Amino acid sequence: MGHEDWVEPKAGQKAGFGKFKKLATPYDAFMESEGIPVFRELGMHDIRELPLAPWKRVGGSGSYIQLYGTEGKWGSYAVEVPGAGALNPEKHLFEKIYLVVEGRGSTEVWLEDGGDKQIFEWQKGSIFSIPLNAWHRIVNASSQPALLQAGTTAPIVINALQNPEAVFNNSFVFAERFSTDRDFYKEKTEVEPDPVRGLAMRRTNFVPDAIDCELPLDNRRSPGYRRVEPYMTDNTFYFWIGQHEVGRYSKAHAHTSAAVLICLKGKGYTYTWPEHLGPTPWKDGYGDQVRRLDYKQGGMVTAAPGGARWYHQHFSVSSEPFRLTAWFGPHNPGRDPGPPGAPHIDYTAMDITEGGTSIPYHLEDPFIRKEYEETLAREGVVSKMEPSLYEPPS
Ligand SMILES: [Fe+2]
Repeated sequence: MGHEDWVEPKAGQKAGFGKFKKLATPYDAFMESEGIPVFRELGMHDIRELPLAPWKRVGGSGSYIQLYGTEGKWGSYAVEVPGAGALNPEKHLFEKIYLVVEGRGSTEVWLEDGGDKQIFEWQKGSIFSIPLNAWHRIVNASSQPALLQAGTTAPIVINALQNPEAVFNNSFVFAERFSTDRDFYKEKTEVEPDPVRGLAMRRTNFVPDAIDCELPLDNRRSPGYRRVEPYMTDNTFYFWIGQHEVGRYSKAHAHTSAAVLICLKGKGYTYTWPEHLGPTPWKDGYGDQVRRLDYKQGGMVTAAPGGARWYHQHFSVSSEPFRLTAWFGPHNPGRDPGPPGAPHIDYTAMDITEGGTSIPYHLEDPFIRKEYEETLAREGVVSKMEPSLYEPPS
């Protein structure tokens, strides 16, 4: 391999190309080598509409999903398991959670060849975790295809090691992440404060029904908002399940990219725009730079497609509650960079008037309220956005 000769810049010039294109990472190259599509977009209305292709390594058929802003941060894919079929057994040096979009079946998990297996059954709406580097096999119990979405830390591991063989054929056993106890994949419903921000958390490796499970009151995004963080198999992969009331919408708030919101129930839309455009982009003439995505159960949207800090705001328009699960990879918003012990605040839940990034209803763009009320009227849903919500605090 020959190298080009280095040419020093002349006086008044700067070194380098100046403008250049992003290079494919080792994880990008790995996805391309798998022979299935790679979906890159702001989001999608419904994952069932995603084109899939036969997937030799994993079995079934699949598509990678890499929504804007999540590149290098965490990975995702859709996989369809044929009726009465199964995926190939596999293990890997990255964490993985699964959400069941459609179907029912079972999962087998074991640590080493001949070791005791955990076997548990799942259905539409189940979420479960595969412990780091544990063997696992997904089995479809019905004659209909099952569709699952996975979230992984694969990009971080593959980009660091630059060798898929080391990731998929590594003999190290993470005994601390797995147990043969009978209740390992039994749902745990006890709620405790998470150690980072004190938000509602459940230590459970399995949520059988994320669509209808009970959620504790949170009130951070809108009055009546409910939310829980399931903590699974000691993962760094962070996610939560949240629900907006019928006829209400969240306040906009800003943070950097990682979060992808996946709809579990109801339907709605999300607006997202760069924080530097300010809290009233339509009024200020930047309406064309605001991105919008409409979605329903199985659809999803990236919260900050451009990286950096973006505002995003979620609107429930169905006659049933709008329930979302947000996946971050190992990017818990309470773990921003800084030395241990440095003071930090839950800035996404605090108003911009209090030092946070949340836009109170009385300071938001008037276009938002007007359009929301018009949309609800069209959908025949009664608004719960009482006028008092728009009054500035006295
Ligand atoms: Fe957010």
